[in-house]
Amino acid sequence: MTPTINAIALVQQAIAARQRAYAPYSRYLVGAALLTSDGTVLLGCNVENASYPATICAERVALTAAVAQGYRDFVAIAVATQNGGTPCGICRQVMAELAPAMTVLIADAAGNFRTTTVPELLPGAFRGDSLVIEPAK
Ligand code: THU
Repeated sequence: MTPTINAIALVQQAIAARQRAYAPYSRYLVGAALLTSDGTVLLGCNVENASYPATICAERVALTAAVAQGYRDFVAIAVATQNGGTPCGICRQVMAELAPAMTVLIADAAGNFRTTTVPELLPGAFRGDSLVIEPAK
């Protein structure tokens, strides 16, 4: 049975996950709390790198770690930043791949949040069923 979303609790877990962020370059701490269909919550935080493009966002850390641990069915994700910043384009694309029906809670550090969905964040996402294999040349 799909768990009901305790939005306030999920947001609080995302806020707590910010403290694990490795963000020595931007000092912009991001936390994510991902709720699976069995009620498990997996956390993510941004992990930066001196080679800036190697940085991984909190949302993708949570989603990819969850997949590695055997989870495939996601109900909601809370994303917390200092100022309620929204998920980046790459994270939206990854959400569209792995969790297209997921609720997204976008929170600030004080616990204020708004509720949205993946299609609202990324309408017309490029999806696997868009891929066609063209004949070899
Ligand atoms: N960041 C996230 O973790 N998630 C997002 O959706 C937007 C950006 C991180 C990446 C980087 O460590 C810092 O925020 C500034 O871009």
